[in-house]
Amino acid sequence: MHKRIFLIAAAAFLSLVMAAQVRVTSPGTELLLDAQAGKELKVIYFGARLADADLLSVSAAGTCGCNAYPAYGMQCPSEAALGVTHSDGSLATELLVETVSQSIENGAQITRVRLKDTVYPFYVTICWRAYQDVDMIETWTEIENLEKKPVTLTRFDSGFLPVRRGEVWLSHLTGTWANEGRLVQEPLNAGVKLIKNKDGVRNSHTSHAEVMFSLDGKPQENTGRVIGAALCYSGNYELRIDTGDTDWHQFFAGINPDNSSYTLAPKEVFRTPELALTWSDEGLSGASRNFHKWARSHKMAHGDRLRKILLNSWEGVYFDINEAGMDQMMSDIASMGGELFVMDDGWFGVKYPRITDNCALGDWQVDPKKLPAGVPGLVECAKKHGIKFGIWIEPEMSNTVSELYEKHPDWVIKAPQREPVLGRGGTQVVLDLGNPAVQDFVFKVVDDIMTENPEIDYIKWDANMAIMNHGSQYLPKDRQSHMYIEYHRGFAKVCDRIRAKYPDVTIQACASGGGRANYGVMPWFDEFWVSDNTDALQRIYMQWGTSYFFPAIAMASHISAAPNHQTFRTIPIKFRIDVAMSGRLGMEIQPKNMTPDEIELCRNAIREYKEIRPVVQLGDIYRLVSPYDGLDMASMMYCSPEKDKAVFYWWKLETFCDQHFPRVRMAGLDTDKLYRVHELNRIDNVPLPYEGKVFSGKFLMDSGLEIPYGHTVDYHKQNDWSSRVLYLAAE
Ligand code: GLA
Repeated sequence: MHKRIFLIAAAAFLSLVMAAQVRVTSPGTELLLDAQAGKELKVIYFGARLADADLLSVSAAGTCGCNAYPAYGMQCPSEAALGVTHSDGSLATELLVETVSQSIENGAQITRVRLKDTVYPFYVTICWRAYQDVDMIETWTEIENLEKKPVTLTRFDSGFLPVRRGEVWLSHLTGTWANEGRLVQEPLNAGVKLIKNKDGVRNSHTSHAEVMFSLDGKPQENTGRVIGAALCYSGNYELRIDTGDTDWHQFFAGINPDNSSYTLAPKEVFRTPELALTWSDEGLSGASRNFHKWARSHKMAHGDRLRKILLNSWEGVYFDINEAGMDQMMSDIASMGGELFVMDDGWFGVKYPRITDNCALGDWQVDPKKLPAGVPGLVECAKKHGIKFGIWIEPEMSNTVSELYEKHPDWVIKAPQREPVLGRGGTQVVLDLGNPAVQDFVFKVVDDIMTENPEIDYIKWDANMAIMNHGSQYLPKDRQSHMYIEYHRGFAKVCDRIRAKYPDVTIQACASGGGRANYGVMPWFDEFWVSDNTDALQRIYMQWGTSYFFPAIAMASHISAAPNHQTFRTIPIKFRIDVAMSGRLGMEIQPKNMTPDEIELCRNAIREYKEIRPVVQLGDIYRLVSPYDGLDMASMMYCSPEKDKAVFYWWKLETFCDQHFPRVRMAGLDTDKLYRVHELNRIDNVPLPYEGKVFSGKFLMDSGLEIPYGHTVDYHKQNDWSSRVLYLAAE
C-alpha cells in the first residue's frame, strides 16, 4: 500500500517536473529548459543528448539554472540579452513564461516559449528550430510591443547560452582584406571577450560571426567536446562572452546595437536573426562537419549541387575587357576541361566607361566599344566553346561619376547636410537599400541581365565598400538609427525576389574578397570568394580557418599566376593546384601567359578534380595537422559519407635542411575497409612507393603513410615547394 502511494506520488512529481521541462533535441544534442508558467525561463542543460532516465535527476546534478534570455532592469549587474526603454521611459524589463508550444515543421522540431513582462504588455517569444537530420539548433526571438506607444530596443540579441567554466578555449576567425579567415585560439579568461563588426555592408573581413568553444582544454581537431555557434546575419553583429563571478561563461550573440537602437511601434514584432548552435564530442572537425552538413542541407543555395570548374577574368585581364580577349579566355578554359567562364569587372558604362575603378557602378549597360555584340554575343561565344557564361556585378553600389548618381543622388547613404564619404576609386558610394526604390533598382539590375540573357549560369555579386557615413536620405529623422538594420532587410527582400524568379542561377557572394562569408547571406548564395589574396601559401591558412564553419563547396579557390599578384611570391603550379583543389576549384589567371607544362598540369588537375569533386564538395572534413601549429606543414582530408572514398592533402609550408615532419595519421575512414592509394597531380619521375597499393582504414588511421619531404623531378625543375594529394578508393 505504502509502496503504491509512493509510486503515485513519484509519478505525479515526475509529470510535474516533465511538464516544466522542455526538451529541444536534435539527434545527438539537447537543450533542456525549465519553463514553468509564471516563472523565469531557465536553461537547465546544453550538451550531448540526455538519456530519458536522466531527465528526472539532471537538475539535481547541479545545473545551470541561468535565465535563458536575460533582460535588463531587474538584475542590473548582469549582462543582458535584451534592453528596452518602455513607453513610459522605464528601462526595466522582467519576463516570465506565459505559454510553451512544440511542433514539427518541415521535419524540424520547433519550440516556442512566449514570455510576458510582469508589468507591461510587452512580449518576447523565444524560438528554437532543432533539425532532426543534423546536430544543429537555431534560436531566435520575436519581440512584440503591445504597449500603446513605441518602445525603444537598445539591445536585442538572438540568443544566449551559458557555457560551464573549466578549461574552455575559444576558436574564432579574424583578419583583414587579403588575409581573411585567420584562426585565433585562446583560453577564455575572466572579463568580456567581444567580437563585433561595424562595416555596415560586409561582415567577415576583420572578424567572423561564428565561434567554437572547446570544453576540454586546448582545442583538438578530432577529440574533445565542442560547442559551435554561428550568427546567421549579413550585417553588423556582436558576440560577447562575459566571464564574471559565476561558474558560467555567458555567451550572447545578436545584431550589433551600436548606433542601431530600434523604435518598435505598437503591435510591431521585431524578429532577430538566427543563432545556430551545434555540439560535438569529436573535436573541432566534428563541429565543422555539423556546420557543413547543416549548410549543405538547409542553409545555403544548392548545397547538394556540384559546382562547375571556372575561369574568372579578374587577375587575368583586370579592367581590360574586350570581345577577342574574352573569346580567347573562354577557348583556353574550355580546352583545359573547364565548364564555365566568368567575366569580371570592367564590362559596363556607356557615358562613363569603366576603364578603372573610379566610375560607372550603377550604369549596368554594356560598354559598346569594348563589347559591340553585348552580353548576348559573349553567351553565344561561350556556347561555341561548350561552356557556360557568368558575369560580375556590384549592384548595391554606385560612383559619384555615373549616370545613376546624376539621376538619383538621393539614393546614396550619406549624413544629412554633409558631403558623402567616398570609397574605392575616390568616388564610390553605397546605395540605401532601406529605400524600396533602391530595392527595385537592385532587383532590376539582375532581372534585366537575366531577361536579356536567360542562359547566364553564374553571377559574381560584389560589394566593395563599407557604410562610411551614417545617414539615410530615405528614413525619417526619428528612424535614422534603423539605417543598418533596414539596409539588411532591404538586402534580404531583394535576394528573396531574385531567388523567387531565378532559383537556378549560381550566385557568388564576393565582398572585396571574403567580406561576405557568413550564414546571413548563404541561403541565397551558392558560394563566396574566400579572399582577394590568391597566394597558395596564405590560402592554406585562410581556407583552414574558413573551413571551421563553411564547407568546401562554398569556398571559391582559384589557381592564379606566379609571382602572385598580392604577395608577389613565386609558387610552382603543382602547389598552387594542390591548394586550390581543396576547395571549389577554379582559375584566376591569364591562360595565354602560362607555359605548356603549366597548362598540361592544369588540364590534368581539372580532369582529376572532376573525379574527386563529390568527395571534396559533399564529403566530411577531417583536419589533421594545423598550419597554425608551427610544424611547418599542414594536412587535412575529406571522406565521402559512405567512407568509400577519401582525398588526403599534405602541404609543406617551410623548407629547411634537416626538417622532421610528423607522420600524419588519417581520420574518418572505415577501419575495416581496404583503400587503394593513388596520387593525384603527380609530378615525380617515379611514383610513390605505395602508389596503387591497398591499405586498411585501420592502418591508415593508426599509422598513416610516409610522405616524402620533396619531389623527385629533373634537376632544373627542383624548387623549395612540396605538396601531395592522395586519392583513396575502397576496394
Ligand atoms: C573586388 C573583388 C575582386 C574583383 C574586383 C573587381 O575587389 O573581390 O575579385 O571582382 O572587386 O573590381
